[in-house]
Amino acid sequence: MGESMTGLKRSHMCGTVTEKMIGQTVTMMGWVQRRRDLGQLIFIALRDRTGIVQIVIDGNTAEKALFEKAQALRSEFVVAVKGEVTARAEGNINESMATGKIEIVAKELRILSESEVLPFQIEDSVTVKDDLRLKHRYLDLRRPSQLKNIMLRHNVVQVIHSFLDEEGFLEIETPILGKSTPEGARDYLVPSRVHPGSFYGLPQSPQLYKQLLMVSGMDRYYQIAKCFRDEDLRADRQPEFTQVDMELSFVEENDIIDINERMMQRVFKELMNVEIALPMKRMTYQEAMERFGSDKPDIRFGMELKNISEIVKDTAFAVFENALKAGGSVRAINAKGCGNFPRKQIDALVEFVKTYQAKGLAWIAVNEDGSLKSQIAKFFTPEKLQEIVEAMEAKPGDLILICADKDKVVFDSLGALRLELSKKLELTKADDFAFLWITEFPMLEWDEEEKRYVAVHHPFTAPMDEDLPLLEKNPGAVRAKAYDIVLNGYELGGGSIRIHRKDIQQKMFSLLGFSLEDAQERFGFLLDAFQYGVPPHGGLAFGLDRIIMLLSGATSIRDVIAFPKAKDASCPMTDAPGAVEQKQLEELGIDIKKDKGQQSEKGE
Ligand code: AMO
Ligand code: AMP
Repeated sequence: MGESMTGLKRSHMCGTVTEKMIGQTVTMMGWVQRRRDLGQLIFIALRDRTGIVQIVIDGNTAEKALFEKAQALRSEFVVAVKGEVTARAEGNINESMATGKIEIVAKELRILSESEVLPFQIEDSVTVKDDLRLKHRYLDLRRPSQLKNIMLRHNVVQVIHSFLDEEGFLEIETPILGKSTPEGARDYLVPSRVHPGSFYGLPQSPQLYKQLLMVSGMDRYYQIAKCFRDEDLRADRQPEFTQVDMELSFVEENDIIDINERMMQRVFKELMNVEIALPMKRMTYQEAMERFGSDKPDIRFGMELKNISEIVKDTAFAVFENALKAGGSVRAINAKGCGNFPRKQIDALVEFVKTYQAKGLAWIAVNEDGSLKSQIAKFFTPEKLQEIVEAMEAKPGDLILICADKDKVVFDSLGALRLELSKKLELTKADDFAFLWITEFPMLEWDEEEKRYVAVHHPFTAPMDEDLPLLEKNPGAVRAKAYDIVLNGYELGGGSIRIHRKDIQQKMFSLLGFSLEDAQERFGFLLDAFQYGVPPHGGLAFGLDRIIMLLSGATSIRDVIAFPKAKDASCPMTDAPGAVEQKQLEELGIDIKKDKGQQSEKGE
């Protein structure tokens, strides 16, 4: 049920009416945020995406029919109001509202559509369960914070489009139905009806296409690209997400870094009025791991890792001894001011690092009088303990936390512990933006399970020139021309200079355990293309969702995506993924195994 809007034309958006317009007749359309009924006086807060304006209907002066209609209004009814902009009485001015100095005295009111009682209120202050929000995401998006994120996203994309256009990039679309590209996650597959038993792979990124566009001579390509990765979801990961993806010809690492940091500088200036100083800091992968235990360090606070292996070797503590003998290390962080943590709290930290495979966490607390308290004191001479305290620059009131294990476990554990403590101690501010480039990533990583090397970035990334001789002798030590851009502990984007020589590309495939036939089968089209004149090239892709998340201060990328997926990759609103008709399966030549079919009944 609803009245027609015929004869009424919207003249203004709700949030744009100011006191300069006093005396004008305006027509507005939107949702009833709330109705306040003071007997003879009814106030309506009318909302559209620009904001809220107050409508007044005075029973003493308004027509009876108009007044009765106003009485019937409920939250989230959609209405059209025509009326006169008037100054609010002195006592009614609301300084916290953009339109707080005026109100609209309604002359005409139409109810365009009514609303049932909502599953939750359209207010940011109301906490709503995630499932309910996702089920009614169209309502969730009416909430100011969500709306703001979507508008911010639009604005960021506009800045990026114009920046890259100025820099000579062409926006080019690449196929969604393609062949799988290896970015390390599982592919989403789409069965082909025309070729039963064959599948398209949804792109994990446009990687191969953008390299082919360089072979085509497009010189500079970009795309706001949808990517699909079937991987476990986290706050900063969705199964489908968006990249700001680019590729450039005749460039080196520094050229790509330069363009991208200027792009970020522009985005932050135009949207946040924040000045990002250039050039951004850079750090090698090795240094990032040594100092922060992470390849995406949050450098807004210290608490850096220190290697104390040299100090604690040859001591009586078997845990440290064994770790060192096995080729590992002993490293520590100094949690400043945490020396008075009660035992229970320290035990919680020990449990915390165990989730990162650490076997334990040793600690030394420096008491206010300078004496030491430690659960491992008995294994060390007082001098040794003092040496550790000095190496860690620990002062009275500090807490030293030590981990001994394989390097990977030590880095993961202390790196995560450092972040955990920074949250507890509130060491960082969300509006402090610390950018950082991580460079010289290792090229390959040994996969214990598969007993082979896997590419750290992807198989098309070029080795550093000075490490080329190591490709044969010691592939694990080869560094890549790869770089990530990191912001406040998040990997915002990553890229590399690509291999443009067929022989090195083939060598890489063989190191990764692809036979010549495998490589030809999976990437033959790229290898073929590389026979016909390929420019040196490289590129990078940002996670657009992550950029918006950090700009908006959201804690999950779900809050910056219009219709995100739930943790189990489903959509509670549309109920995707869903079963399909038997006929469709037959056309595709697909049989669903009985037990699999039942499992997929909503992922139980
Ligand atoms: P990479 O795999 O590092 O590189 O991805 C680039 C950026 O995309 C974002 N990202 C994601 N965001 C949300 N959800 C996900 N599941 C997800 N996965 C990745 C991250 C990441 O930094 N083709 C290369 C780029 C290149 O070499 O040019 C690539 O895709 O912010
Ligand atoms: P244990 O001798 O195994 O009981 O360990 C003695 C103390 O050392 C315990 O408090 C453990 O938490 C700690 N610890 C155990 N393993 C490690 C490790 N790998 N690194 C640092 N501390 C450890």
